[in-house]
Amino acid sequence: MELFNVYPINNITITKALGSRVWDDASTEYLDMYGGHAVISIGHQHPHWAKRIKDQLDKISFYSNSIKIPIQQELADKLGKLSGKEDYALFLCNSGAEANENALKLASFYTGRKKIIAFKKAFHGRTSLAVAATDNPSIVAPVNETSNIIFLPFNDENALKTCFEKEGNEIAAVIIEGIQGVGGINVASSSFLQSIRSLCDEYGAVYIADSVQCGYGRSGHFFSHDYAGVAADIYTMAKGMGNGFPIGGIIISPKIPAKHFMLGTTFGGNHLACAAALGVLEVMESENLMQNAKQVGDHLMNELKLIPQIKNVRGMGLMIGFDVPEELKALKGFLLNECKIFTGEAKPNVIRLLPSLALTMEDAEIFLASLKKAITHLQD
Ligand SMILES: Cc1ncc(COP(=O)(O)O)c(C=O)c1O
Repeated sequence: MELFNVYPINNITITKALGSRVWDDASTEYLDMYGGHAVISIGHQHPHWAKRIKDQLDKISFYSNSIKIPIQQELADKLGKLSGKEDYALFLCNSGAEANENALKLASFYTGRKKIIAFKKAFHGRTSLAVAATDNPSIVAPVNETSNIIFLPFNDENALKTCFEKEGNEIAAVIIEGIQGVGGINVASSSFLQSIRSLCDEYGAVYIADSVQCGYGRSGHFFSHDYAGVAADIYTMAKGMGNGFPIGGIIISPKIPAKHFMLGTTFGGNHLACAAALGVLEVMESENLMQNAKQVGDHLMNELKLIPQIKNVRGMGLMIGFDVPEELKALKGFLLNECKIFTGEAKPNVIRLLPSLALTMEDAEIFLASLKKAITHLQD
């Protein structure tokens, strides 16, 4: 049987990983500035995370949500403490799309309404409503198309206000990434997020902060929306939450009450996934990784801004993007194949940096030096 061919892949087989390094099957070492698409939050194969999973594996790895699973509460307590959202409630699932799907559904249950505001260049996942709220028609199947999603320009307060004035009483939710990832690292302005908060309050809509990529400490704040001083009603999470172990979740403001069976999942919140997620939070806390993301991220961003050939350096913490001019379009491939450095991209010409939050200053320097060398080489 063949694999269903949906991914354009690099001809590399990774067989070993540690921290911000991975090795291929010929023992070639790579610096990982991509984090397997923003997933590696505490570093590959962190020993504490691995031990947490192994210890749990020897006890029980799965039972359904029909019994008490105390490690879920342990995770909720730790997440509440680190995110500062102790009064929110946690619902666990398995992926980012599923987290957004549940958040949108919950907003609709809560408000009794159907319309969702999403933004240009947004990416919220590939399940039915999440993909409908994603601004990429090529991944929306005919069955996913719905007139319930309204796309507005990103960071445009007037357009948002006009939309609420016109149909505010039908809006169930506004869903927004604090920093758009797939869309090319576009940071939502504080005043835009504050407008979303106040319009949602005024019209009784739910503010959903898609924090799947920009959340979990990557921006230097637990949720990137925190920098605007606003609290969303629902935060969605996945990627860095398990450092590669599949887990997603939403945290829900106390104003939205739970009702039995309104949400549910077979695998969500299983013992093993919770152990992995606890391992992540424990390391984030003990190694001050949010602070590290801010420090190393600020340094990287400042240094990148000094490289004249790359444009529009932007982002926050260790979620950074920059534009690559046409004459350097081979840069990403050169970094991978010649410099042995993984980076991310966004179409058409953006390089995205999404490394582990434990990236060291030394590794940031190695990246910067290689990038400068690559640019010089490609220009000659
Ligand atoms: C902002 C955002 N939301 C949702 C998703 C979907 O997450 P998953 O691939 O885990 O379903 C992604 C994935 O890239 C994302 O970047």
